[in-house]
Amino acid sequence: MLALTSIGTTTYRPHEELNSTMAATITRRRRGRAAAALTALTLAVTTGIALGATAAQAASTLGAAAEAQGRYFGAAVAASRLSDPVYTGILDREFSSVTAENEMKWDATEPSQGQFSYTRGDQILDHAVANGMDVRGHALLWHSQEPAWAQTMEGPALRQAMLNHVTQVATHYRGKVYAWDVVNEAFSDWPEGVRRDSNLQRTGNDWIEAAFRAARAADPGAKLCYNDYGTDGIGAKSNAVYAMVKDFKSRGVPIDCVGFQSHLTTLPSDYQANLQRFADLGVDVQITELDVAAGPQQAAIFGSVTKACLAVARCTGITVWGIRDSDSWRTGEDPLLFDDAGQPKAAYTAVLDALNGGSTPPPTIPGVDPSAWYVLLNRQSGKALDVYNRSTADKADVVQWTRNDGTQQQWRFEPSGGGYQLKSRLSGKVLDVLDWSTANGGDVVQFEDRDGENQQWTVTANGGYLTLVNRYSGKALEVQGGSTADGADVVQYDSWGGANQQWQLVKVG
Ligand code: G3I
Repeated sequence: MLALTSIGTTTYRPHEELNSTMAATITRRRRGRAAAALTALTLAVTTGIALGATAAQAASTLGAAAEAQGRYFGAAVAASRLSDPVYTGILDREFSSVTAENEMKWDATEPSQGQFSYTRGDQILDHAVANGMDVRGHALLWHSQEPAWAQTMEGPALRQAMLNHVTQVATHYRGKVYAWDVVNEAFSDWPEGVRRDSNLQRTGNDWIEAAFRAARAADPGAKLCYNDYGTDGIGAKSNAVYAMVKDFKSRGVPIDCVGFQSHLTTLPSDYQANLQRFADLGVDVQITELDVAAGPQQAAIFGSVTKACLAVARCTGITVWGIRDSDSWRTGEDPLLFDDAGQPKAAYTAVLDALNGGSTPPPTIPGVDPSAWYVLLNRQSGKALDVYNRSTADKADVVQWTRNDGTQQQWRFEPSGGGYQLKSRLSGKVLDVLDWSTANGGDVVQFEDRDGENQQWTVTANGGYLTLVNRYSGKALEVQGGSTADGADVVQYDSWGGANQQWQLVKVG
């Protein structure tokens, strides 16, 4: 559901806080978003019609769905990939914001001292502008990817060179980027809770605030962010960043936002609370480099991160660190929303669904009538998906049995959470992975409808057969061991395309 309150807070706050000097290209876009939300809000208030998003109202792209929530949804982009039409096709369709993955960094923009090179950064900016996307600037200062000439410098000469860099680059992009990562990754991992040693840090502890002041002077309209990784939950490192932001705010150092990179494998349980405590300091928060290692929880984590951002009024947007798995810096971890072929993954559906407040219409299954009852015949055995012993109880086992068309063998596909639930005609209960198991062999039972992701299935059709993948575990519905016997258990297992994981539909009611 898209709550009225979330429209009010999330749309207007970022707009109202925009600095008046910000370029027309940026304000025009934001004004359009605010106006759209205002129209919807007025309509709801004057007609008394609740604004609950129905399936028909749900947006079908990440950018549009985020915009309806007053946020942006961005991707890191590599200039070298802009000639790939599959890449740009996804970028231009799905995203409303762009971050240069490497092209606006110090080594790229000032390869020799005092000689600035904006060609590749501008290429990304131009593509974004031409396609109506905003641009996040990344990153003015970072101990990594310093140009070789700066790496050998120390002390006052480096301080001067670094501030000149900030001034020049922020001036070049003045009015064209809506936010800058002014300083990136300045805190240590070990020991945690202290500044990272670097030649920048050795110029004096005030180097970060000096950089923020120089950036503000060069581009007063850009939001100025501190950006880091490993700060996604509450801990020694994020506490140290928190203390710095609090200190900056109390002393009037110009900081507007904090970026949480969110290169994740697991999700810290206090992720949302951490975002909220920073927001409570009076800064915007942004998810700046999101990617999640492939695994059973990948889609769920992407969905939870999105929900966390939506739950924090000052979380103004999310950026994923690349488009397809093959574009990612995390080689072999398949951590993004689109597969190598550019097809949206379950993680994409989870994000879109979260942005739509849980009301994304599921993709239609060719030839399947959501009001009809079907028997599902396993391709390997020819037997039917069956509630064992005609039970109507929660946790009753689901097995295969010789087809007899009884109501314990009849199922309906009901749209739910961007996927489908399978409802038993006999019991009214739904197909469920017991105890939210993510294991191979996890048991499949029937359970009362609780709208759980372990009760939702992504259905794909191939040559007249369906594969059903559980949205929570990412595993496929199968007859265990490829058995052909009556009573053989139906479980979940890694999807591998076997005949025991394929189901044929026969309409019976
Ligand atoms: O383009 C050259 C290529 O010509 C050359 O042959 C090759 C040899 O190594 O290098 C290529 O450049 C690489 C560049 O990515 C483009 O692919 C650099 O070596 C490589 O260091 C660089 O890695 C980038 C990394 O930052 C640098 O530390 C990643 O693409 C980029 O995704 C990554 O992004 C960072 C964020 O800026 C900050 N947060 C962490 C995040 C992930 O590490």
